[in-house]
Formats: sequence, structure tokens, C-alpha cells
Amino acid sequence: FKVDWDAADAEKGGYEHFMLKEIHEQPKALRDTLTSRLYDDKKEIVLDKIKLGKEELDKINRIYIVACGTAYHAGLIGKYSIEKYARIPVEADIASEFRYRNPIIDEKTLLILISQSGETADTLAAMRLAKQKGARVMAVTNVVGSSVSREADDVLYTWAGPEIAVASTKAYTTQLACMYMIALHLGMLKGTVNEEELTKIQESLKASPEMVEKVIKKESAIKEFAYDKFNVRDVFFLGRGSDYYASLEGSLKMKEISYIHSEAYPAGELKHGPIALIEEGTVVIALCTQTELLEKMMSNIKEVKARGAYVVALAKESDKAIEKEADKVFYIPDTQDDIAPIPTVVILQILAYYLSVARGCDVDKPRNLAKSVTVE
Ligand code: G6P
Repeated sequence: FKVDWDAADAEKGGYEHFMLKEIHEQPKALRDTLTSRLYDDKKEIVLDKIKLGKEELDKINRIYIVACGTAYHAGLIGKYSIEKYARIPVEADIASEFRYRNPIIDEKTLLILISQSGETADTLAAMRLAKQKGARVMAVTNVVGSSVSREADDVLYTWAGPEIAVASTKAYTTQLACMYMIALHLGMLKGTVNEEELTKIQESLKASPEMVEKVIKKESAIKEFAYDKFNVRDVFFLGRGSDYYASLEGSLKMKEISYIHSEAYPAGELKHGPIALIEEGTVVIALCTQTELLEKMMSNIKEVKARGAYVVALAKESDKAIEKEADKVFYIPDTQDDIAPIPTVVILQILAYYLSVARGCDVDKPRNLAKSVTVE
């Protein structure tokens, strides 16, 4: 009697790929990352290993968020949130650019690193450079005991659990959760965020695992769409504000695992280039979750539609007017705008996943890519 099984299959817990398993693990990963830090009865956020206090923060006049790949995309949302809630100037930079451009760093600088593995060579080099110049270093990482966690002054862990698929999913959404919490924490220390704002965003953050559960329920509709469009050559993502940052991640997921050429553009830049590439049938994915920017996005959709584009919109459930403009709409639950990237990106992860499957690609081990880039 012989049972055929291999350890990798057993670890996939019934899912066909690690990536799909990890997409489904996101509600739990988010809960684990958020619950020990957000309290119902306290008007504060408790960030365990972050020792940076008010006195030190008052001396900080500049923040850099430095990372690579998906983690960099989480950094862009971090920049947006920290500037909004803590009113400190933030630059988000790619580690391999940052370290070679002689950035302005001194003891008044806070460097925030984001790294799932905590071992990415360029990210480590950026950290060491900043430390040498006297900056304080805060790290957001998923791996306890990683180089980044050992060398940084402050550490905040994403409790995502091991991520096996090369394309990052649950590490990214938990990095977002951490960036929101850091932004609010810094805002509380600086006194730039009021209790009402804090309560509102805390509530939305706490609801994010449930929002992701709801979005995952749309899996079969997203799959059907992916199987219908798997042959496309180019895809353009458009968005404004945090929708633009989320679209960068959606576009990266798509190129990483389905090998479809895709580009993400801030929608206002459409007229400065990409519109020249829109022709009959070009697929445009328009992220429209930001209430104040919705009208602007609607006009961008009209512009690309007039040139023959097929438009897929992602919008909040109550913004049904979008159906008049777009060919297809995927909805996220209604939420506070800042948090919208969490459910939005999950839709884009599922889309990239099924495009990859439909095209017969190696989902978990895409060609030429590594999970962790520990050499330059
Ligand atoms: C590689 C991975 C990406 C990841 C990036 C940064 O390119 O394939 O998924 O986002 O490295 O990795 P890190 O471990 O520093 O987050």
C-alpha cells in the first residue's frame, strides 16, 4: 500500500497554489496584525516594539520610506497616510535608488523600511547608510529575527505568517495595515489627529478583514472575467490618490505572474502619454474608490471609452453610477477612503491569479523572479 503525496501539496491545504491559499489567508493575517494593536476601549494604538516617543518624534523633520517591489507600493500608501495624519513630509523611495543618490539624511531623519523577508540586499544597504548618517530606523517586516529586525531601532511585525508564493499578497495587505497604524500613532504623538478621526479610521481598519472576506466571495465572478480576457496583450491601470498606488500593485501582480504587459498611470497623466496607446478593445482597469476623485475618474473613463477601450472599474458598492460608464464593475464594500486599497488590491490579486492560471503560467514560481533578492 502506497500513498502518493508530497509535502508541498500538503502545505497548500487543499488549494491549488500557495498564492491562492495566501490570498484566502488575508482576513486572518489582517486580524492577527491589527487586533493586538487596536483596542476598543483605548484611544491609542499600541505598537509593541516601537519605542519612538513624542520627544524623539518632535525632533524628526523628514521621513523616508524605503523598500523594494511590493513593499515599496505599501510605502507609497504609507507616505500618503503619514503626511495626512502626522503632517510630517515623507518621501517614499525605492531602496536601489535611495542608496545611490546621496539622500539628505541626518539625526533629524526617520527612515521607515518595509520588507517582508527583512533580507533584501538594497533595503539592508539603505538601512545601513541611514544609520551611519545618524538617522533613526523603523522597520516593518514579516520575519522575526531577520537582519532588518535585528538592526533597526524600532520594529513592527506584520503577522502574516510564512509567505511562500513569489508574488506577495498577504504580506502586502498586512504592510498596509501597519502603515495606517504607524501613521495614526505618529499623528497621535504629534497631536495632529483628533479623536473623532482616529475612531473613524480605527473602525474601518478593524472592519478590513471582513471587507476582504466579502471581496473573496466574488472570486468566481473575477475568475470568469479572467478566463474571458486571458488573451489580452496590454492592460492599463488608472487611478488617482491612493487608487493610483493600489493600481501600481495590481499592475505589478499582473506582470509578475501572468506575463501580461501592464502599466499603471495616475489618471491625470492620461493625456500626457498613455492615451496614445488606447485603441479598440484595449483593457483599462480604472480604480474609482476615492469619493472626492470619483467625478474626475468618470471623465477619464469617458475619454478612454471614446477611443474604444474596454473599461473595468473598481468602485465602492454605493457608487452605482459607475455602471453607466464602465463595461464591467467589481465592487468593494463601502469604507473610509484611506482603507479602500486593502479590499481593492485583493480583487486585483485574484484577477492576476486567474489570468496566470488561464494562461498556463507557473503561478507560485514565475520565471526569472525570486522570493527574496539578497544579492544586487
Ligand atoms: C522580490 C519579491 C517581491 C517583494 C520584493 C521585496 O522582488 O518577489 O514580492 O516585494 O522582493 O521583498 P521584501 O522581502 O524586501 O519585501
